[in-house]
Amino acid sequence: MRTEVAIIGAGPAGMLLGHLLARAGVDATIIETRSEEYVASRIRAGILEHSTVRLLDEAGLGKRLRAEGQEHRGIHLQWPEERHHLDFVDLIGRSVWVYGQTELQKDLIAAGHPVTYEVTGTALHDLTTGRPYVTFTDAGGTARRLDADVVVGCDGSFGPSREAVPVAARRTWQKTYPYSWLGVLADVAPSTDELIYAYHPHGFALHSMRSARVSRFYLQVPAGTELADWPDQRIWDELALRLGHGQDGWKLISGPITSRSVLPMRSFVQTPMRHGRLFLAGDTAHIVPPTGAKGLNLALADVALLAPALVALLREHNPTLADGYAEAALRRVWRSTHFSWWMTTMLHTGDDPFDERLKLAQLQWVTSSTAGATGLAENYAGPPS
Ligand code: FAD
Ligand code: DHB
Repeated sequence: MRTEVAIIGAGPAGMLLGHLLARAGVDATIIETRSEEYVASRIRAGILEHSTVRLLDEAGLGKRLRAEGQEHRGIHLQWPEERHHLDFVDLIGRSVWVYGQTELQKDLIAAGHPVTYEVTGTALHDLTTGRPYVTFTDAGGTARRLDADVVVGCDGSFGPSREAVPVAARRTWQKTYPYSWLGVLADVAPSTDELIYAYHPHGFALHSMRSARVSRFYLQVPAGTELADWPDQRIWDELALRLGHGQDGWKLISGPITSRSVLPMRSFVQTPMRHGRLFLAGDTAHIVPPTGAKGLNLALADVALLAPALVALLREHNPTLADGYAEAALRRVWRSTHFSWWMTTMLHTGDDPFDERLKLAQLQWVTSSTAGATGLAENYAGPPS
C-alpha cells in the first residue's frame, strides 16, 4: 500500500489531520488499534477553547457543535464559603464551549475519512530516509506494509511513535502528581449554569456537564484509588460536601451514575516533535493533567499547525512550515503545560499546611484582581484565533 501521509491513531488528532489533508487534496491513510465503536464512545474531555471552535468551523465540522454544544462565558471558582464567577467574555472577549470529546469524535468519523481499525503490531521504519514506512497486521490477520512520504504519530501516550525516536535523539520532561481524578457521568440535569472548580480541604471537585440532562463530575482521590472503594452514595456525599451543597441555598441534585473511572494525573513533554520524516502530534508528544481542560485543545492545535505544513511540503515542496512545526507547537505546549500545572497545584489539596494557605491566597487574588482573573481567562479560553 502507498499513501502520502501515514497517520497512526484515529483519536481527535489523527482524525482531524486526515480530514484537513483530504480537503487540501493530500492523500492520508489512518490506522487504529481499537474498533470504531470503542473510539467513538470513549468518555474524555469536555471543553473546547475559542480557537478550537474556530478551527472546527473552518474545517466544516462546527455545525452540530454550534447546534448542540453549550457556549459558556466563564467558570465558577470556589472554596469553602465562597464562590466567584470569572466572566471570560467580559475579561478578554472570548468564550469556551462545552462539547464532549465523544461527540467531536463522532463528527470526525462522520466526516468520512476512511480508517483501518483493529490493527495490531504497528511498527515504524526508515524514518530518517525519504521513504519511511509503517508495518502492521490488519483485522483479518494479514501483514501489511504502508509506504509514505511522511509518517505522523497521533497514537497517544501508549502508541509506538513516541519511542520510534531513538533515545539519543529525544528528551522527556515529566511530573507525576500524588492524586488521581475519579470521574463520573450522571443522568441528571446540571446543578449549575457554568462549570464549578472547587478547592476543598477534602480535595478538589469539579462540576461539569455534557447536556441539559447529563452532568459530569470529578473528585480528587489519592493515586492508586480503587473504584470499589467509591460506592455511589459516597461519591454523591463527597461531591455535595466539596461543591458546597447548602452554601447560600445552592443545591447539588444527584441522579443515576452511568459511567465511572479513575484517571491518573501527569505532565509529560517529549521533544523534538519531529524526527526526520516522523512528526508527533497530540498526546503522543505531550500529556497535561486535566484541570485546565487543555489536552484535547492542544492536540487539535498541533494539527492546525501540522496540516498546512504538510500540504506545503508535499504539494509545493516548501519545507519552511514543516521545519518550524516542532518549535511553533512547543511554544503553546509549554504554555498549556504551565497553566495545567498551575491550575492543578492551586486547586488540589496536599498535606503541607503552608502550601494550603498559599493556595487560598492565590484563589483570593485570582478572583479579586482583574489582572489575576485575566491571566486565568487568557489561558483557559486559549489564544485568539
Ligand atoms: P488519543 O485520543 O489518545 O488518540 C490516540 C489514538 O491512537 C487512540 O485511538 C489509540 O487507540 C490509537 N493507538 C494507540 N496505539 C496505536 C497503535 N499502535 N497503532 C494504531 N493506533 C494506535 N483532556 C481534557 O482536557 N479533559 C479531560 O477530562 C480529559 N479526560 C481524559 C480521560 C482519559 C481516560 C484520557 C486517556 C485522556 C483524557 N483527556 C482529557 C485528554 C484528552 O482526551 C486527550 O488529550 C486527547 O484525546 C488527545 O487526542 P489524541 O488524538 O492526541 O490522542
Ligand atoms: C471537563 C474536564 C476537564 O478536565 C475540565 O477541566 C473541565 C471539564 C469535562 O470532562 O467536562
